[in-house]
Amino acid sequence: MKLILLGPPGAGKGTQARRLQDRYGIVQISTGDMLRAEVAAGSEVGLQAKAVMEAGQLVSDDILIRMLEARIAREDCARGFILDGFPRTVPQAEALDAMLKGKGLALDAVVELQVDDAALVDRIAGRFTCAKCGAGYHDSFHRPRVDGVCDVCGSTEFTRRADDNRETVGARLAAYHRQTAPLLPYYAASGKLHRVDGMAEMDEVARQLTSVLDALPEAEVLTKS
Ligand code: AP5
Ligand code: MG
Ligand code: ZN
Repeated sequence: MKLILLGPPGAGKGTQARRLQDRYGIVQISTGDMLRAEVAAGSEVGLQAKAVMEAGQLVSDDILIRMLEARIAREDCARGFILDGFPRTVPQAEALDAMLKGKGLALDAVVELQVDDAALVDRIAGRFTCAKCGAGYHDSFHRPRVDGVCDVCGSTEFTRRADDNRETVGARLAAYHRQTAPLLPYYAASGKLHRVDGMAEMDEVARQLTSVLDALPEAEVLTKS
């Protein structure tokens, strides 16, 4: 099953992608996480991306398309994947279509997580992540069961993203509306676009999402295997 989760910064793409990964046994591909790993490693791509990301702008299509092409060629993508943060521009969407077509594959669904801009700043400003296992938390909406201890792995170290501050969120939202929102009509035209209420509580979003995806022919194969 090959899916795209679309939505503005803070819509819940990462949160929901991690749940879908567990349900269907397909990998989450977060281009934001991949870029942050490059920045942390100090690679050439990381050096180019760092300032752009901290300013809330989009990294160049060239870099992202090359990165994604290499990623989906890996063996763990054979059962499918959930794209979280890619494509983000029409040229990226066109490149993805061409890549899949070249392998005789096609997308199964594109799901838009619909949220109000006003909710996003609070979601992003409160977000933090386990430094060891990557589990996501939020100061108000999703605290660890024991304060300061990761529910999943027990680690006591957490990180906050460099672009998760109120100033940068404005730039990230503007980039979404200007460069990424045009993908909605692009995918609507292909008949693969579904919409889910991203303002609902996390479990409810997950329920809506799985009811859309379970109806796809591909889902039956995955949930039985
Ligand atoms: P990326 O890492 O993709 O960030 P983003 O799109 O800005 O999205 P976020 O990760 O902030 O939000 P999310 O939708 O994953 O929400 P989450 O689940 O964490 O990209 C970062 C940067 O990398 C970009 O700005 C760009 O520079 C670059 N980049 C990446 N891909 C690129 C590409 N393809 N092309 C060019 N540049 C690229 O949820 C947010 C918070 O809300 C969490 O704390 C969560 O606990 C909470 N939450 C989630 N769901 C709910 C809910 N239903 N109710 C209440 N709280 C909720
Ligand atoms: Mg994310
Ligand atoms: Zn952890």
